[in-house]
Amino acid sequence: MKIGIIGAGNIGGTLTRRLTELGHDVAVANSRGPETVKDLAEETGAAPTTAADAVHGAELVVVTIPEGRVPELDLAIFDRRAEGAPIVDTGNYYPERDGRIADIENGMAESRWVEQQIGHPVVKAFNTIYYQHLLKRGRAGGNGHRIALPIAGDDADAKRKVMELVDELGFDAVDAGGLDESWRQQPGTPCYTADLDAAALRQALAEAEPVRVGRGERGRRRADSVTSDVAVTEAREGAPCAQ
Ligand SMILES: NC(=O)c1ccc[n+]([C@@H]2O[C@H](COP(=O)([O-])OP(=O)(O)OC[C@H]3O[C@@H](n4cnc5c(N)ncnc54)[C@H](OP(=O)(O)O)[C@@H]3O)[C@@H](O)[C@H]2O)c1
Repeated sequence: MKIGIIGAGNIGGTLTRRLTELGHDVAVANSRGPETVKDLAEETGAAPTTAADAVHGAELVVVTIPEGRVPELDLAIFDRRAEGAPIVDTGNYYPERDGRIADIENGMAESRWVEQQIGHPVVKAFNTIYYQHLLKRGRAGGNGHRIALPIAGDDADAKRKVMELVDELGFDAVDAGGLDESWRQQPGTPCYTADLDAAALRQALAEAEPVRVGRGERGRRRADSVTSDVAVTEAREGAPCAQ
């Protein structure tokens, strides 16, 4: 499949590595230009490119950049993806990194906000897993315990395509409902970076509380004290994970 990835950092780099290994035709972009993605491209065989060229003709697009930088993207580029190509949003909102985003602070699901910024429907996926685990902990189907990933979105066809890709990467894909339900997989919820199996993930999604809605004591985000996904996992695992 032709896949365009916007963002070449922890998650974008990891997806580039895993998806090229699986034989997909990957084009990857960052904000500084193709020259600065050269090493990743040489390592993986992916095409180093611009965001516009990564999306052009892609059958699946991944947006994996800090939430606060999503408004920088040129919306017109998404019109040039292949018809019906899902746009995957891997993002998490960390106000210390992204700046305060009023709509999210007031309770809008983070991916709904991303969708509004880019003007196209998105599927929320890969936001709950630490990038090193995405790199190393995928398991072929039927091969013992598999980590499950929640996939949320309003377009059933787009969601199905993303779920198939998650399975190909070695993770069980759990349908987490529509985008307005996707707060159940945001930072601070029980499933976030917890590497649960499918049954436990379904339970965690059902038991999630809207930790980000409101800024009072009860609503205060448990993740407020940390500044990124990497910090959440490293804090829990007790030691920095290798980059
Ligand atoms: N790290 C994790 O384990 C993890 C897990 C799940 C979800 N997430 C979420 O996934 C998203 C990406 O995380 P990350 O850790 O991969 O971030 P990261 O390592 O900081 O990488 C961010 C990437 O986005 C690129 N970028 C920023 N603005 C851009 C723009 N306007 N156009 C094109 N590319 C742009 C950066 O390129 P330049 O360097 O050239 O600016 C960089 O390659 C975040 O929302 C994060 O919260 C992260």
